[in-house]
Amino acid sequence: MPSDRAFLSEEILRLKKKRRAVILAHNYQRDEVQEIADFVGDSLELSRTTSTIDCEAIVFAGVHFMAESASILSPDKTVLLTEIDAGCPMADMIRVDSPREVKTAFPGFKSPPAYMYPPQFTLKDIKAHYPGVPVVAYVNTTAEVKAESFICCTSANIVKIIESLPDENVICVPDRNLSMWAQRNTKKRVISWDGYCHVHERVMPEDVQNAREQHPQALVMAHPECRLDVLEMADYVTSTSGMLRFAHTSSAKEFIIGTERGLLYRLRLENPSKIFYPLRKDMICPNMKKTTLESIFHSLQENRYIVKVSETIRISARKSLDRMLAVP
Ligand code: 13P
Ligand code: SF4
Repeated sequence: MPSDRAFLSEEILRLKKKRRAVILAHNYQRDEVQEIADFVGDSLELSRTTSTIDCEAIVFAGVHFMAESASILSPDKTVLLTEIDAGCPMADMIRVDSPREVKTAFPGFKSPPAYMYPPQFTLKDIKAHYPGVPVVAYVNTTAEVKAESFICCTSANIVKIIESLPDENVICVPDRNLSMWAQRNTKKRVISWDGYCHVHERVMPEDVQNAREQHPQALVMAHPECRLDVLEMADYVTSTSGMLRFAHTSSAKEFIIGTERGLLYRLRLENPSKIFYPLRKDMICPNMKKTTLESIFHSLQENRYIVKVSETIRISARKSLDRMLAVP
């Protein structure tokens, strides 16, 4: 197996050309993966790109639901996920009709709102409980869940998506923190699932306090997958690409970054005169980090791992994604 970095990069470029492939990478990917990618972005940007890109194959350096979205939006292209077991535990917290196994309690989460739906239920249960109420599915969901939902959203557009609907009540799945953040920013009633991202959930208010004490000049940015009590302490709450934009335009020189550490690579690269600190050193998504240059090479060389959503699911899931993409 080739391992030399320069050799691997050359081979990847050669195979990419031969296969008319493009490499899409999420902002959380390893530095060297972001470096070789044709496009790096947040979930919304990557979804928009997959639907417009001219190529024969898409190599997705990300997690499973992202490759599924690419397959839903580009059924004629070969979609490859670089690592077969790169999944998103939060996306796996909701199922259409078979409940997930409850393995974890929710440490530190003292008083879930009454409208929070516990994980032993299914998406079909919650829909039956609230007939006619539209389901807004975070893109961090399986294709099946998207197919059972009315519209998708990302962390960048959830409030806009909710506001675009005529309904006064909406069901948001699966991230309770993102839902509570949306509830803070809309007058509509948000009925939430109680999924969460283990990388963002671990940030506690004390972490924000400690980081501020260590870097008193720095502004705190936090991803809406963080707990609400953490978000309330942040200076700016936004998606990963929202953080990139804020860092560019803000006159501040130092920032504390409350999201997965992979984002620091682009923040530093694009803002060499500014300083970025991770809010917690352990904000690392093990699934995002599974992809390496070797995986990209093997993916292109051996045409692996093909992600293809079945046509019945794809057609319904596509409607949910298209409705989201149509919201300006
Ligand atoms: P965004 O890049 O859309 O902010 O999403 C973060 C995330 O956790 C993706 O898994
Ligand atoms: Fe899923 Fe969290 Fe990893 Fe994003 S950072 S892929 S939400 S586990």
